[in-house]
Amino acid sequence: MLSNYTPLVDLDWKDFNPWAVTPVTHRVADDPRFRIEQLVELAKRLDSKGRIRAHTNSAEAATSFANAPELHPINDDPVRTIEHIQAAKAWMSLLNVQTDPIYRELVDEVLDSVRPNVELKDPGMSYRGGWIFVSSPRTVTPFHIDKEHNFILQIKGQKTVYVWEPDDLRVVSERARDNFHSRHDRELIRWREEFREMAHCFKLGPGQGAYMPSTSPHLVEVGDEPSITVSFTYYTDSTRRDSLIHKVRGRLAEMGINIAPSLGARVFDEALYFGARAARTATRISYRATGRRIGEETAAYARAEGA
Ligand SMILES: [Fe+2]
Repeated sequence: MLSNYTPLVDLDWKDFNPWAVTPVTHRVADDPRFRIEQLVELAKRLDSKGRIRAHTNSAEAATSFANAPELHPINDDPVRTIEHIQAAKAWMSLLNVQTDPIYRELVDEVLDSVRPNVELKDPGMSYRGGWIFVSSPRTVTPFHIDKEHNFILQIKGQKTVYVWEPDDLRVVSERARDNFHSRHDRELIRWREEFREMAHCFKLGPGQGAYMPSTSPHLVEVGDEPSITVSFTYYTDSTRRDSLIHKVRGRLAEMGINIAPSLGARVFDEALYFGARAARTATRISYRATGRRIGEETAAYARAEGA
């Protein structure tokens, strides 16, 4: 059991900006739950529920993140691949580990330890999740964005994390962000090699990591040894607000109504947000009344498909 009282992730909490990329250090690398034998057992439990994602080392920065497993499938069984990760030429992600009782405790220990500091600046932590990456040497996580805030922590081996600020429109445009939030479509999120020189570049070893705000574009490259990495993720009031505004802007764009980013648009965003929130609340009430299931972003834990 890790301490609940001292933050297990260290950064300058006094100056913490929840919407800025930040280097961190951490004290979870020696936790026995990250030993490969334990991760193989976890992989067996998750594989039976379809919660392992994998691709080979032929995936590159520009590969479609969404389609990498289909474009570059591994040949072997996922559990055997993790057992032989040194030579497997594979990138493996154990998804939604918070659905496993043992690893939910880990997610709770780490996120509970940072929560008081996070909430001072960014209240409303919800939809907590954990993701463990077990990777062969020289494998790549293709360029992409995610909805959650993310503490990415290196456990074993070396990784280079390229990450751009969440408002860097040179790298991912407003339209691409609107499409991502409104349709979960990453089609307009496209890699260009010249992005590298605009990135924060973190060369991570065990005990090091980074805080990546919601929708920070990122690309990850594994070094010459096998690597184990964990991400702890969550939503907050501010990520839900940002996502809802982009979602509405995306839907309006589909109807031919384009809102240019400007001061006027920010004022418009406020109106959009309150209108959309009221509409969503009404929809949820009607869903509950008719017994239909809703994707509840304010739930304590991220919901896995089929969970
Ligand atoms: Fe990611």
